[in-house]
This record gives sequence, C-alpha cells and structure tokens, in this order.
Amino acid sequence: MTLLPDIQLTRRPGIIELGWGHPDMALLPGAALAQAATLALQHDSAALAYGAEQGPGWLITQLCTRFEQMEGITPLPEHLCITGGISQALDMLCTLLTRPGDVILVESPSYHLAPRIFRDHGLTLAPVPCDEQGIRLDLLETLHKTLTLQGRQPRLLYTVPTFNNPTGISLISERRSALVSFAQHTGLTIVEDDAYRELWFDAPPPTPLYNLTPAGPVIRLGSFSKVLAPGLRLGWMLAAPEIVRQCTGSGLLDSGGGINHFTAHVVAAFLAAGMLEPHSASLRSNYRRRRDLLLGALARYLPNTCTWIPPLGGFFVWLRLPPAVHSAALLPQAEAAGVAYLPGVYCYTGGGGENYLRLAFSLLSPDDLEEGVRRLATVLAHT
Ligand SMILES: Cc1ncc(COP(=O)(O)O)c(C=O)c1O
Repeated sequence: MTLLPDIQLTRRPGIIELGWGHPDMALLPGAALAQAATLALQHDSAALAYGAEQGPGWLITQLCTRFEQMEGITPLPEHLCITGGISQALDMLCTLLTRPGDVILVESPSYHLAPRIFRDHGLTLAPVPCDEQGIRLDLLETLHKTLTLQGRQPRLLYTVPTFNNPTGISLISERRSALVSFAQHTGLTIVEDDAYRELWFDAPPPTPLYNLTPAGPVIRLGSFSKVLAPGLRLGWMLAAPEIVRQCTGSGLLDSGGGINHFTAHVVAAFLAAGMLEPHSASLRSNYRRRRDLLLGALARYLPNTCTWIPPLGGFFVWLRLPPAVHSAALLPQAEAAGVAYLPGVYCYTGGGGENYLRLAFSLLSPDDLEEGVRRLATVLAHT
C-alpha cells in the first residue's frame, strides 16, 4: 500500500529546503496545546457542539480585549469573526464579495498562493508593483483609474503590508494612511493579510491598515498559523459589521456552525491561561536568531552582486541576483548541489521576478541555514 503523507511539507533527502515558508515543528507548542485542549473540554462541554457562526464568544471576547491592550483599538464583537485561517477567509471573501470575471488588485510580488485562491473563483488578477517601501500608490491610482474607465472597477485589493511574503518589507507609514484614504474615496475594499505581525524582531511593526479607520474600507485577516501552529487552521477577521454579518450569515456557516469550533476553544483556553505572550516572545527570539544567522551567512558567502533588504520580522529574505541570473532556470542545479528555494517568478502574477528568489529562515536549524547558503553560493559562483 502507498504510504500517504500526513503533512504538506516534503523533505527530500540531501536537499536543504530554503523554499518552504513553514515553521520548524520543533517550535510548535504541542505540550501547551494538549494542556489547553484539556482545559477547553473542562471549561465547557459546548466545545464539542456545533459552534456559533461567528466563533465562540469565549475566544471573541478575549481577542477584543487583546486588541485593546496591545493595539489601543476597541473592536466590538460584531467587528470580529473566527476563520479557518487566512486561506479560508480569503476563499470565503471571494465567495461572498466577488463574481467570476471580477478584477482583483494584487500587489506584486505577492504571497504566491493567494492568487491560486483568487483564480479558483474566476477572478482576473491585476498586479500592482511594489518598491522597497511597499505598494506603489501612484501606480495603484493609475491602474485603478484605467480599469474603472474600462468599466472593470476592481472590488478588492489584496496586500500583505507587514513583513511581506516574499519580500519581508513593511509598507511605510505615510503610504499606509494614503492607501486607506484612497480606498475610502474610491470604494475599494482592502484585504489586509496580517499573517506575520506578531513575529517582529527589532521593533513592533507599523499600525495595521485596518486600525487607521476601524470598520472602514479594510478587512484585516489574522492567523494563529505562524504564532501557534498551522495545523490548527484558525484565524480571525476584523471588518465592518456588514461584512462580518455577510460571512456569519453564509450557507457554509449556517450548515456547519462556526469554523473549527473545537480548535477555537483550545486557542481560547491557551489565551485564558496566559500562554500566548510567553510563547510568542520565545518565537520572536528564536526566529530573530535564525534571521541573523541567515543574513550573516549571506554576507559571508554570496558575491556582492547579490543584494537583499534585511527583514525586520516574518519568515523570509528576498534575494536579488544579478540581472542575467534566472533563479527558476538555476533551481535544478541548486537542487543537484543540495539546496532549494522559491524562484521569484512564482510571486509575480503579471510576469517579472526572474532574478529574485525567496529564502525562508523559519523551517531550518541554524546549521542547515548556514550550509544551505554555502551551497547556494557555490552554485552562483558557476553562473
Ligand atoms: C502572507 C500569508 N498569508 C496567508 C498564509 C496562509 O495562512 P493560513 O495558514 O492562516 O491559512 C501564509 C502562509 O504562508 C502567508 O505567508
């Protein structure tokens, strides 16, 4: 009988996988989650019932308090609902807010798997270029105007403004307020993917777009995948009450109840026991050490024709190779030398990124990070 995999990640013998943006399983809080699961079942036998469509009140109220304490915003429960992670939330928003053929603006480069969800819904992707300060507002305005004149006014803009995947860059504050006010004036809805906010290394990140005008034109999506464990499949959405109502009134939730209700109870118990803050602090220092190690190895081994911007948080370093070196074409050689990465072209929906590649420092041990860069440098030396 074929052995079926239990997990998505496949490790190939002899290859140091710098391409996978997954957390190191050694850093997942298994024992603490087992304790939280027991607490959740003791707290309330309703943890095993069909859940409230919005998510369990126990989790929603704790999240509201946490937003107030950590960010100084005071969302009401009707601004918040629990999701099955950002991926499920994106899929649901496409189901409820778009129709096949609609245009969605997508920053470029972008998290390479979000466009797969948009394509599942028959959406047309319109890339908006980014620079080293985040999404280019001038180009966004021009593109939006052109599309609107053609009668194809975009409904949504998808962006990861904080510790971006793949670039690691955060949108600068000036552009944050300008972007939100552009959305307010044009009726554009911004989908803010805030997957990496908790994983800052040097200083807390800039204010979320949503927080600039709470319940305005921004739908903010958060996830427990990076800060707790991706297998939980749990996240949250902060949005205007009518958007939350649209989601909680969907046929999916009417039939199945709140998404991942038992898991939501486990996370509620984890929060109630005060386990999240020490865990995220320890993750931050762990990933900071790995980031520093990767950056140190890049500086030591790579030729000075390669450049990168040190990320201040998140999982990734976005590496720029000399213009003539195409990372996708080079990948088979890299794999033969025992190292793999994500070619930059995967992160562009409208072409580009040939001489870029994404390296993840989240998955690998410090020794593997160093050796992976050493192997990459050997391959680049022969180009
Ligand atoms: C930017 C970004 N958004 C969303 C996801 C997926 O999030 P979730 O596990 O909550 O579905 C990832 C995972 O790598 C990501 O990098």
